[in-house]
Amino acid sequence: MKIIQEVIKLNQLVTEWKNNNNTIALVPTMGSLHFGHISLIKEAKKLASKTVISIFVNPIQFGQGEDYESYPSTIDLDKKKLEEEGVDVLFIPDLKQLYPMGTETDTRITVPYISEILCGQQRPGHFSGVATVVTKLLVTSKPDFALFGKKDYQQYLVIKRMVSDLLIPTLIVGMPTQRENDGLALSSRNRYLSETERKIAPKIYLSLQKASEIIHAGTTDFDNAKQELIAELERFGMKVEYFELRSAADLALPKEDEKSFVILVAVWLGKARLIDNITLEL
Ligand code: PAJ
Repeated sequence: MKIIQEVIKLNQLVTEWKNNNNTIALVPTMGSLHFGHISLIKEAKKLASKTVISIFVNPIQFGQGEDYESYPSTIDLDKKKLEEEGVDVLFIPDLKQLYPMGTETDTRITVPYISEILCGQQRPGHFSGVATVVTKLLVTSKPDFALFGKKDYQQYLVIKRMVSDLLIPTLIVGMPTQRENDGLALSSRNRYLSETERKIAPKIYLSLQKASEIIHAGTTDFDNAKQELIAELERFGMKVEYFELRSAADLALPKEDEKSFVILVAVWLGKARLIDNITLEL
């Protein structure tokens, strides 16, 4: 596995690869790799002849007071895992490589509406930060495929919309959420949980499953059911930021004849902000 830190070096290598008729798959990450990330990498290896994994903790997608400074890093372990998966390139740029003019007055990509609701409402500027860094990674590695987890469902839709709007010739591939045996979605932030909180955390996915069953049963009063599910999570000591039923295509409020739904939840449990979702078809 090649480790590349400079944008220009990655540019040169992907040009060489393209001249030799290779296809490229990119998996952007912030490191602290777990099986959720690895599942994306395994699929990337199947889709393309060359794989690029990036590790970059992107400051502009963190709000004030969020965990940018303390975001976990396990770089030596990450490198070992990536070697084992047979990744071609690990791209680890520093701040100057991706933001040569700094992060105060730099160009930003904004995807309207879908970036402003749900997590975007709770974390203003977050999705613009994500869209901006992902654009830089796409421009640098020119991938045929870029893989994203549906664990971050809103992020996946923001990126799909951005790539479509900006005519970027990369296919965005959405991958299923990987979970612990008890249903908790894998996340780098799960390590913020205390032992007791960790035992409570699977209730998040349980509540999504319950909500999904309620919709399947044909309820016309999701709001009432939702209030009960929120109250249950709060009895376990969670603070619920949102618990929402939306259209799976664009996160708009479901239409009368909606068939594809996603239920999304964000909670605080101790020091951890955890998100999860479940999709359902009627
Ligand atoms: P990060 O949280 O490191 O996640 C990297 C990728 O792994 C994202 O596409 C995310 O959705 C996916 N992922 C995380 N947990 C997963 C799980 N349990 N199952 C499946 N996929 C999972 O998301 C980011 O980094 C950043 O915002 C990034 C896109 C790299 C831009 O900075």
